Amino acid sequence: MNVLVTGGAGFLGHHLVAHWRRERPGDRLLVLDALTYAADATRLGDVPLQVGDVGDPLAVRTAFERLGAVDLVVHMAAETHVDRSIAAPAAFVRSNVLGTQVMLDVARERGAGRFLHVSTDEVYGSIETARVDESAPFRPGSPYAASKAGAEHLVWAAVLTHGLDAVTIRPANGFGCGQFPEKLLPVLCRAAVRGEPLPLYGDGQHCRDWVAAEDVARACMLLAERGATGTAYNLAGGGPRTNRSVAEDICRLSGRGEEAIVSVADRPGHDRRYAMDGSRLAALGYAASITLESALPLLIEEARQAGRCPR
Ligand SMILES: NC(=O)c1ccc[n+]([C@@H]2O[C@H](COP(=O)([O-])OP(=O)(O)OC[C@H]3O[C@@H](n4cnc5c(N)ncnc54)[C@H](O)[C@@H]3O)[C@@H](O)[C@H]2O)c1
Repeated sequence: MNVLVTGGAGFLGHHLVAHWRRERPGDRLLVLDALTYAADATRLGDVPLQVGDVGDPLAVRTAFERLGAVDLVVHMAAETHVDRSIAAPAAFVRSNVLGTQVMLDVARERGAGRFLHVSTDEVYGSIETARVDESAPFRPGSPYAASKAGAEHLVWAAVLTHGLDAVTIRPANGFGCGQFPEKLLPVLCRAAVRGEPLPLYGDGQHCRDWVAAEDVARACMLLAERGATGTAYNLAGGGPRTNRSVAEDICRLSGRGEEAIVSVADRPGHDRRYAMDGSRLAALGYAASITLESALPLLIEEARQAGRCPR
C-alpha cells in the first residue's frame, strides 16, 4: 500500500510514521510537510519527505506523483496551537481550511484511495457535562477549533458531492515524546524539572481527556482498514481530568511541592471541558494501550534530558 502522510514531521505525525513502519514494513510511505516551527524532520529517519505546503496544489500534486498510485492519505498537517490561533488566526485558516480543500481536490483528481482526515475533539467546543458522541453539533470555541471544524465540513462535502472515500478521526489531547515545548504537558514537565513555577491558566479546573500518540497511530491504522466511509470516529482517552490534577501528579513525580503550581491569566474563550464517547471506535476493536498516568514519568524524564526521548 502507498501512503501519503501530511504533517508527518510533527508530533502525532512522527509517531504515526514510526508505528506504520513497525506494523506494515511493506508499505511505501511519503511525508508531505511544510516543516514549520513545530516540525522536526530528523525524526523521520529514512522515510521519504517532500517539503511542501498542503495549500499549494503544485506541491501536493508532486507528492502524489512521487508515490504513483496513492492508496491512503492520512491528513494530519495543521497549525495546532490554540494560543497562536488567538494571536494570528489567518495562518490557521490557510493551512487547516484551505490546505484541506487542496488535499481533497488533488486526492479526487488523482483517484486516491481512502482519505483519513485527522480532526480533533475541540470541534465540539466545551462539553459541560457527560460525553458527546459523534452526532453532537460543532461549537468550536477557538480559531484553531473553528478552522478544524471548517476542514471537517469540507471533507463531508467531498464525500457527499463527489463520493470521496473519507473517514474522520477526532482524537482527544495527545501525549507522548516529541511534543513541541509550547504545549501543556511539556510546559509543565520542563518547569517542574527546572525548579520553575508550573503555570496553569485560570483556576486550573479545565478538563482534558488524554490519549497516547501511539494509540492515535493505532486508531488511524485501524480506521484506514475498517472505518466506514463518510463516518467520523471519536478517539477518547482515559476520561477527563483537570489540568490542576495533572500538574499535581507532575509535581509529585518530580519531587516538587504543589505550591510550585501558579495561576496565570486565563486564555480568552478557554473551553472548560472536553469529553467524548468513544464507543463507535471501540466497536471496531480499538482499546487504549497506554494511560497518561503510566506515561508521565517518561515525559518528565524527557524534560530532564532537554527534549530527548529517553526510549
Ligand atoms: N496533538 C494533539 O493533542 C491533537 C489532538 C487532536 C487532534 N490533533 C490533530 O492532529 C494533527 C497533528 O497534530 P500535532 O499535535 O502532531 O501537530 P504539530 O503542530 O506537532 O505538527 C503539525 C505538523 O504539520 C506541519 N504543517 C503545518 N502546516 C502545514 C502546511 N500548511 N503544509 C504542510 N505541513 C504543515 C508542521 O510542519 C508539523 O510537522 C493536527 O491535524 C491536529 O489538529 C492533535
